[in-house]
Amino acid sequence: MEPMAEGSVLGLPVTLLGAEADPFAEKGTTCPGVLPPPSDPELVERTRRLRESLGEKVFVLGHHYQRDEVIQFADARGDSLKLSQRAAEAGSPYIVFCGVHFMAESADILTSDDQVVILPDLAAGCSMADMASAEQVEDMWAYLDDLGLDALPVTYMNSTAEIKALTGRKGGSICTSSNADKVMRWGLERAERVVFLPDEHLGRNISLLRLGLSPEDLVVWDPRFPDGGLSRDQLKRAVVVLWKGYCSVHQRFRPEHVEEMRRRVPGVRVIVHPECRHEVVLLADEIGSTEQIARAVRESPAGTLWAVGTELNLVSRLARENPDKGVFFLDRTVCFCSTMNRIDLPHLYRALVSIERGKPVNVIRVPADIKECARVALERMLTLA
Ligand code: 13P
Ligand code: SF4
Repeated sequence: MEPMAEGSVLGLPVTLLGAEADPFAEKGTTCPGVLPPPSDPELVERTRRLRESLGEKVFVLGHHYQRDEVIQFADARGDSLKLSQRAAEAGSPYIVFCGVHFMAESADILTSDDQVVILPDLAAGCSMADMASAEQVEDMWAYLDDLGLDALPVTYMNSTAEIKALTGRKGGSICTSSNADKVMRWGLERAERVVFLPDEHLGRNISLLRLGLSPEDLVVWDPRFPDGGLSRDQLKRAVVVLWKGYCSVHQRFRPEHVEEMRRRVPGVRVIVHPECRHEVVLLADEIGSTEQIARAVRESPAGTLWAVGTELNLVSRLARENPDKGVFFLDRTVCFCSTMNRIDLPHLYRALVSIERGKPVNVIRVPADIKECARVALERMLTLA
């Protein structure tokens, strides 16, 4: 292993063992983001008091990619599957979802009509979810129906409520990164082919690595082209039709980052999110949802060295919370999910104040007709999960 430079870890911008040093103090880091400054202690205290006074009236959900200043107030933290399960069970009249828009929409779909779901900043979207519009997906299905193809949609949680509703109407199911294999298998037992949307990479990784399909079984539907850029024959032969969408954070990881990490840290175990490109996943030791990554690190023997390919808030937290292990960020050019990061302590505080005043802000309300069909698709996943 290369010697450690003072104030940095093997010259890498994320921390190892103990993590007292500022992981960004190192000169030359190319990460354009910096860790958010520590929260204003007065605001932390005010939020704490307010949270306490609201008691069980509020349930705060926090995705693993949230900032520390926010996650400290989460009653439950997890990946998108766990958070949707917790939302469905939550009895509180107000659910504050510290995550992104599609997650809060899913929580609204799964909760009763008299519960109120709040997203502290309405601008917290997901660029991947925006890569498939309902209109585009309807057009694709019209074409597949025209061809008389037997197909079932398996839709990634990272999608709009309209697309979830369409999935429900078509007899399909939602999935997350932690159960995509189970749900795709379920789909392929019921139809000749599955349309997987909107993440091309997750669909490919699961198809090739977990379902034993071969690259020839897959085609990519690109909504920018007429008929998805595919011939009728290609579609007829396909077992999985992948939608051309991606996560702007995860697609930045490259095979050379894994190779460099292995060269610099002998014995390192590489774990990446399955939204990463297939070439990266092939070089990794493990793949997992954010919850599965957190569990793998937590449950590994002391002294294990991990290089983690996912969003930076989570990797930094794993490094801090697992001081008996070495946790590296897989590459220095991949940073935060900028939309997840929009939820900061002032936004959370404002959401809580609005509840206290009886005038909740940033309420997510999915229209009833969409909600009904989307719920069918989400509940199908929850029964399979
Ligand atoms: P998880 O379900 O693994 O938390 O993933 C959600 C996500 O948006 C990853 O980019
Ligand atoms: Fe969306 Fe990627 Fe952010 Fe996850 S990390 S919320 S997929 S943009």
